[in-house]
Amino acid sequence: MNYECKEPLIVQEVAPRDGLQIEKQWVETEDKIALIDGLSACGFTRIEAGSFVSPKAIPALRDGDAVFNGIRRSLRTIYVALVPNVKGAERALAAQADELNLVMSASQTHNRANMRMSCETSLAGFGDVVRLVRGDADVTLNATVATAFGCPFEGRIDEERVVSIARTYREMGIAGVTLADTTGMANPRQVARLVARVLEHVPAADLTLHFHNTRGLGLANVLAAYDAGARRFDAALGSLGGCPFAPGASGNICTEDLVNMCDEMEIPTGVDLQKLIVLSRTLPALVGHEVSGQVAKAGRNCDLHPAPEYVRTI
Ligand code: COA
Ligand code: ZN
Repeated sequence: MNYECKEPLIVQEVAPRDGLQIEKQWVETEDKIALIDGLSACGFTRIEAGSFVSPKAIPALRDGDAVFNGIRRSLRTIYVALVPNVKGAERALAAQADELNLVMSASQTHNRANMRMSCETSLAGFGDVVRLVRGDADVTLNATVATAFGCPFEGRIDEERVVSIARTYREMGIAGVTLADTTGMANPRQVARLVARVLEHVPAADLTLHFHNTRGLGLANVLAAYDAGARRFDAALGSLGGCPFAPGASGNICTEDLVNMCDEMEIPTGVDLQKLIVLSRTLPALVGHEVSGQVAKAGRNCDLHPAPEYVRTI
């Protein structure tokens, strides 16, 4: 373990997409826009701001077009849209998304549950999206390997298959690759091993890790991946999130908890933790329930200063 490394860690905020997609209470378009604008003001360089999927599959995000058109764009921020197929890509381009994030699972069973198609059909569709986007210098492509560390239907996922999918994405002309632990089945040693293998084929600048905290290993997995050379991580404000088509899914790793860990370890993120905490505390009113992030409840270590009287007198 190399806890002396201080290279920047890039946080891609995914609450507006992964976070809200599973929420039962409808979040008004203007509230989604305010959330994304608030996140932009926290200093994120990347925000996954919505998805362009079937409105029947994910009704909570059916207003993606209006959301993308309504946000106040920060010049330093890349606004990413998740898309499952060419129709989604066309909608995302019309809404001026900066990057399209295609998703396919390593597990055939989860891909059928989530995307209602085989992995082969997904990949064929990605080829169509690559051709659609080719020549548009303003748009970049990323593709996610969902269930990369384990599948709630199939269990263990062959690491060779994950490496091979990452290579296929790159060979197709998709620069960015995300390894997603869809239902929080990864452990730190597995993460270190797989990240090292994938980094033989994908430059660190193009690799993202997407962890869910379903079994409490989220930040441990981040550190293992960071020490193995990964530099970009998805996280959701308040630890919102989850895939509605994966049994037992629960929230992403919590952005403010991740940024707090980085601040305490002097790993730069460029994200303003104080603003983030203020924004996170607005979430229960937005989604209609308590959220599971820790730091928004506890405050930062330095918020305890000046120390209370009883501590000073010890
Ligand atoms: N945006 C909007 N509508 C879309 C769409 C898209 N990207 N893709 C398909 N549709 C519409 C079709 O036009 C069709 O509409 P109609 O019933 O009014 O004619 C309907 O959805 C069914 O289309 P079809 O191509 O047969 O899709 P499907 O029912 O087999 O579902 C997906 C396939 C991929 C569209 C759907 O499973 C999906 O959107 N999955 C995404 C799930 C998700 O976001 N999971 C969490 C993130 S990982
Ligand atoms: Zn996720």
